[in-house]
Amino acid sequence: ASTLAAAAQQKGRYFGTAVAANKLSDSTYTGILNREFDMVTAENEMKMDATEPNQGQFSYGNADRIVNQARGQGKRIRGHALAWHSQQPGWMQRMEGSSLRQAMLNHVTQVATYYRGKIYAWDVVNEAFADGNSGGRRDSNLQRTGNDWIEAAFRAARAADPGAKLCYNDYNTDNWSHAKTQGVYRMVQDFKSRGVPIDCVGFQAHFNSGNPVPSNYHTTLGNFAALGVDVQITELDIEGSGSGQAQQYQGVTQACLSVARCTGITVWGIRDTDSWRASGTPLLFDGSGNKKAAYNSVLAVL
Ligand code: XIL
Repeated sequence: ASTLAAAAQQKGRYFGTAVAANKLSDSTYTGILNREFDMVTAENEMKMDATEPNQGQFSYGNADRIVNQARGQGKRIRGHALAWHSQQPGWMQRMEGSSLRQAMLNHVTQVATYYRGKIYAWDVVNEAFADGNSGGRRDSNLQRTGNDWIEAAFRAARAADPGAKLCYNDYNTDNWSHAKTQGVYRMVQDFKSRGVPIDCVGFQAHFNSGNPVPSNYHTTLGNFAALGVDVQITELDIEGSGSGQAQQYQGVTQACLSVARCTGITVWGIRDTDSWRASGTPLLFDGSGNKKAAYNSVLAVL
């Protein structure tokens, strides 16, 4: 196959990208989007601050632009993200306790209901675990509402859109030996054992020289999958250039392909100039939209 999406489909997988609504008028951008990808994540437009800027007033204009463009092209959508400590609207940042818990659950219910039937998988909760060696939860206003806030969010999402896969999504959970990876693993194991509705785990996969692609990535993905969840690479980008970067991209692709329940890979942007990273060249297309060595190395093994 000659595109990422077509090649991934031959392996029973998808290949996605993050999309920004304000770039949909850029014809180079949408040309690559339409040609190469079959799954779309809104880069910011479905986040809590975007969809509920004032409490109880929901705003879906930019998210709908992305959803409609993608669906018009026959692409599927990963929803990102229903509950997160970051990119909360100001009113939510100022809340704590039971009123925050209620507001968070209402947000999950409203947004998942609005998009019911249109979302392949929701990142229900994003980045709830702490970095470092604790293996525990990250402190946040949501965490302080009680340790059960994550399962409450998953139950609300399931009730609102029973057809969507429900994912937990995080970063620095790629290396099997890291405490954070183990902490998330134990939570998913606990959820599965108690019947909390969880279907998938997303690995953001933002890599750089200080946080390289681990050689045990296939082990991590396989161990999570063995808990009875799908796994997905959800926000892939890798700092670097040339053959070194290409090799790392190929390694991530092969790690996903080596795990039957790794259902797809999403890169976090199209061209290097679309990346959220302040500098560097972490994506598969250069600023002019040309395929990089990293692109060819991914396509070669898909
Ligand atoms: C980033 C976006 O790419 C930026 O445009 C925005 O300013 C900040 O958020 N983890 C996530 C994504 O789950 O939502 C983040 O996206 C990148 C890190």
